[in-house]
Amino acid sequence: MNVWVINGPNLNMLGRREPEIYGRESLEDINREIIAYGEKLGLNVTCFQSNYEGELVEKIQQAAGNADCVILNPAAYSHYSIAIRDAVAAVDLPVIEVHLSNIAAREEFRHRSVVAPVAYGQISGFGKHGYFLALEAAKMLGAGKEEEHAAAD
Ligand code: DQA
Repeated sequence: MNVWVINGPNLNMLGRREPEIYGRESLEDINREIIAYGEKLGLNVTCFQSNYEGELVEKIQQAAGNADCVILNPAAYSHYSIAIRDAVAAVDLPVIEVHLSNIAAREEFRHRSVVAPVAYGQISGFGKHGYFLALEAAKMLGAGKEEEHAAAD
């Protein structure tokens, strides 16, 4: 099962950026842990980050046909990017939205995610562990698919 982990703007600054909110580990460190955790679960994980909305849209589009599941932290774009929301809606793939911080407990402008209604589900507030939980969810979704296949055979 191929899982793409896509991170949006400013997440390349993790470790240096508001560490009291986002933690002290760099994205490279977290990605390494995500890939290792994925391996344990038997998932083939690819990580990508961009600060550009269009690049994120293209990556989500490319996931169709290349990935079985997407784990997406759209960062600030979560709150206003209709383009990213539409890309998520356009691909016939489960997209799991992740936020390091609990967006519901922060400034009001972060409470709403325009991506959430088209995501499979959302994990928010568990720091980097949110990505590991999302991998567990991806694994669960993959297992569900295998069961469907077995039932159809
Ligand atoms: C974030 C929350 C967003 O509101 C913020 O703009 C981010 C990171 C998170 O992971 O907690 O950049 O998506």
